[in-house]
Amino acid sequence: MIYAANFKTNHTRKSTALYMQTLNEKLRAKNPEDKVYIFPPSTALEKYVGDFTVGTQNAYPAHNGAYTGEIGVEQLDEFDIKTILIGHSERRELLNESQENVAAKFSFFKAQDFEIIYCIGEPLEVREKGFEAVMKYLLAQFDGIDTEYEKLIVAYEPIWAIGTGRSATVEEISSTHRALKKAINEKPLLYGGSAKPANIKEITSIAGVDGVLVGSASLDAESFFQMISHQ
Ligand code: PGA
Repeated sequence: MIYAANFKTNHTRKSTALYMQTLNEKLRAKNPEDKVYIFPPSTALEKYVGDFTVGTQNAYPAHNGAYTGEIGVEQLDEFDIKTILIGHSERRELLNESQENVAAKFSFFKAQDFEIIYCIGEPLEVREKGFEAVMKYLLAQFDGIDTEYEKLIVAYEPIWAIGTGRSATVEEISSTHRALKKAINEKPLLYGGSAKPANIKEITSIAGVDGVLVGSASLDAESFFQMISHQ
């Protein structure tokens, strides 16, 4: 299983360092086949040593240049970061990243040989229209995306389940993952949206779920490790 922590705009450089240390001590007990990713805020990127991979929540598709407020490959190289989240619904919605922007970012970081966790997800009004509408919406989020890319991991995160405390039901996750798996050439597929210690066993036992992308419940190292170890 894959366990990915997305801190979003939470934690400082100092608290992230403490988190990494705390988590890494606990990770000695993890199943060696499980893989852990941490996406701290950009200000907390560092060459952390541990049984996990550190990625960036975002970057501009350039090595360097005049892109005020952004970071590029040059800044990521400094910390050996070779993993990126692309297409998160918060960036699509709050920062107006279009499918075109997202696809351009994907192509650029693919060319840089980055491992990409590519996020997709539908809003509530689409889910309410039924399964067919959901699949149509989700498949459109693969426009311009190379689903054959070998370093691709996909995260399905229904927008209405993110940060709401209400995860999708087993049936919703199961049917969506089954259909998505075919569309993405059986690439690893994570579920995200209110995944937490209380529902981790149920979610990870669904066929077609290869792991989770966790926001709120990942902010505390103890809670995140509870998920990793299914305690
Ligand atoms: P959540 O966020 O776990 O707080 O719902 C998930 C995500 O946005 O990756």
